[in-house]
Amino acid sequence: MIQKVISLWILLQCEASDLDELSTNSNSKEGTIKFNMRKSLDLEQEGCYLQTGKKECLEECGFNATAKSIFIIHGWTMSGMFESWMHKLVSAVMQRETEANVVVVDWISMAQQLYPDAVNHTRLVGRSIADMLDWLQDETQLPLKNVHLIGYSLGAHVAGYAGTFVQGTIGRITGLDPAGPMFEGADEHKRLSSDDADFVDVLHTYTRGALGVSIGIQEPIGDIDIYPNGGDGQPGCSIGDVLTVAGNFMEVVKCEHERAVHLFVDSLMNKDHMSYAFQCTGPDRFKKGICLSCRKNRCNNIGYNARKMRKRRNTKMYLKTRADTPFGGFHYQMKMHVFDRKLSVDPDPTFYVKLHGAHNDTSGIYVDVPDNKIGLNATNTFLVFTEEDIGDLLKIELSWEGETESWSSILKSLKKNFLSWNTSLNKPVLQVRRIRVKAGETQKKFTFCVPDESKMDISPGESLTLVKCRDGWESKPRKRYENTLRIKYFSFLPFLEKTKSNSNSQTANVMT
Ligand SMILES: *[C@@H]1O[C@H](CO)[C@@H](O)[C@H](O)[C@H]1NC(C)=O
Ligand SMILES: *[C@@H]1O[C@H](CO)[C@@H](O)[C@H](O)[C@H]1NC(C)=O
Ligand SMILES: *[C@@H]1O[C@H](CO)[C@@H](O)[C@H](O)[C@H]1NC(C)=O
Ligand SMILES: *[C@@H]1O[C@H](CO)[C@@H](O)[C@H](O)[C@H]1NC(C)=O
Ligand SMILES: *[C@@H]1O[C@H](CO)[C@@H](O)[C@H](O)[C@H]1NC(C)=O
Repeated sequence: MIQKVISLWILLQCEASDLDELSTNSNSKEGTIKFNMRKSLDLEQEGCYLQTGKKECLEECGFNATAKSIFIIHGWTMSGMFESWMHKLVSAVMQRETEANVVVVDWISMAQQLYPDAVNHTRLVGRSIADMLDWLQDETQLPLKNVHLIGYSLGAHVAGYAGTFVQGTIGRITGLDPAGPMFEGADEHKRLSSDDADFVDVLHTYTRGALGVSIGIQEPIGDIDIYPNGGDGQPGCSIGDVLTVAGNFMEVVKCEHERAVHLFVDSLMNKDHMSYAFQCTGPDRFKKGICLSCRKNRCNNIGYNARKMRKRRNTKMYLKTRADTPFGGFHYQMKMHVFDRKLSVDPDPTFYVKLHGAHNDTSGIYVDVPDNKIGLNATNTFLVFTEEDIGDLLKIELSWEGETESWSSILKSLKKNFLSWNTSLNKPVLQVRRIRVKAGETQKKFTFCVPDESKMDISPGESLTLVKCRDGWESKPRKRYENTLRIKYFSFLPFLEKTKSNSNSQTANVMT
C-alpha cells in the first residue's frame, strides 16, 4: 500500500510538471478565475460569464437574485480541462433546481500546477469567490443563505476560504472528498471547516492512505461527515491489477476519489431513492450493525438531500452503497442469540442469511461478525446490506455452511480435529430461536422466530427458516412459547448473570 501511494505521488508530480513545462510560456493566463453561469442544459454551449463590477453581465446571464445560487468548484487538474464529472454534476443540478443560478468556478489555469502550487492558490480563488458574493450582495441583495458552494477535492477547500472571507455566512457548503495532502491535520482556517457556512456537509470516499497521506482528507471537518463504505474502498473500484499498468492505477484513484461526485449526482437525480447515512463513532462499529438508529437526528440523507444539522460538528456518519447508480441500498441490523448446548467441541460456525421479502429474495449473505467468530451463548449483532428493495421482510433462512462447502470451513474443521485428535466427533449442533431485525431505512423492528420449537437445532449443511412472529423487539413472547421457553431460560441462568456484568454489545441481553 505504501508503495502504491508513493508511486502515485511520483506519477502525479511527473504528470503535472510535464504539463507545467509545456505551458510556461502561457503564464499570462495564470490568475484567471472565471464565473461561468450555465444557461442551458446543453453543456456544449459556453454559458455566460459573471464579473464583479459588471452589472450588465447579471442581466445578460439572467441572474435571478431571489433564486438559489449554486457554485460548483473543481479541484486540482492534470489535463487542464474539465473532467467528465463536471458535466454530469452541472446537468444534474440544473435538472433538479431549474430556477437556480448555476455557476461553474473555473480556476483551471491555477489548478493545473504542481500540487503544492495549486494548494497555494486555493486561498486566492476562495477570496475571489467571496468578492463575487459580496458584490452580488451589494448589487442585488443576494441573500447568502440561498448560496450553496459545492467543491470537489481541492475545490472543497477553495469553498472553505470563500466562506471565511465573505461578508456574512454562506448557507451551505458541500465538500466532495476534500483533498487530504497538505490539509490533513491543518489548522481549521486553512481548510474547509464547519465554521465556513451555516451547514457544511462532507462526503469522504477515498481516505485510504499510508504515511499519513491519503487523497481525500480522513478527519471529519464539517457539521456532518459521511463516509460511504467506511470511506476507504468503494464497490466497483477494485484495486485488482492496479500496479501492472500506470493508467489502471489512475483509474482506481479516480474511481474512488470521484465517487463522492457521483454519489452527489445520484442524490440529485434519484430523489425517490434516497440513501441514508447513520451516525457512528467508527467504521468497525458500523460494520457490526450497531449504528442504525435515527433517534435524535442520528441518521440523515446523503448528498443534496441532507438535512441541515447545526451544532453537530464533526459527526461521522456511515452507510454502505451499491457499485453503481442508484447507489442506495438497504441496511438491516440483526441480533441473533446462538445457544451452545455443549454437544460439540468448538463448533465455530459459518452462517449465511437469505432474506425473503414481499417483492424479491436475496441470495445467501455472509453473516459478518468480528474476527469471523460467531459468539456462542451470546447475542451476535451484525449488519446485512441488500442492494435490491425486497419489500417487506417475510422470512429469514439461516444456513450453516456445510463442512465441505468452502475452504474456510475445511480449514476450520482440520484445525479443530487436529487440536482434539478426534475425528469421530459428533456433528456440531447449535440452537437459534429467533432473530431480531431492525430495518435502517424504515426504522421498523421485527422479531423472526423458528415456528416449530422442536426444530431450533442447526448443524453444518443445514438451515433454519424463521418467520415473522411479532412486530418490534420488546413485547413479551407469545403465550404459546412462554412456558417452554421459561424452562429453557432457567437452564441458562448462570450465563445470564455473566452477561449482565458484561456491557459488550456482542453479549447483550439473552432474551433475544
Ligand atoms: C426567480 O426565482 C424565484 C424563486 O425561485 C422565482 O419565484 C421567480 O419566478 C424567478 N424569476 C424569474 C424572472 O425567473
Ligand atoms: C504562495 O503564493 C504566494 C503568492 O500568491 C507566494 O508569494 C508564495 O511564495 C507561495 N507559497 C508557496 C509555498 O508556494
Ligand atoms: C454454553 O452454555 C452451555 C450450557 O450452559 C454450556 O454447557 C456451554 O459450555 C456454553 N458454551 C460456551 C462456549 O460458553
Ligand atoms: C429480484 O432480484 C434479482 C437480483 O437479485 C433481480 O435480477 C430481479 O430482477 C429481481 N426481481 C424483481 C421482481 O424485482
Ligand atoms: C471423540 O469424541 C467422541 C464423541 O464426542 C467421544 O465419545 C470420544 O471419547 C472421543 N475420543 C477421544 C480420543 O477424545
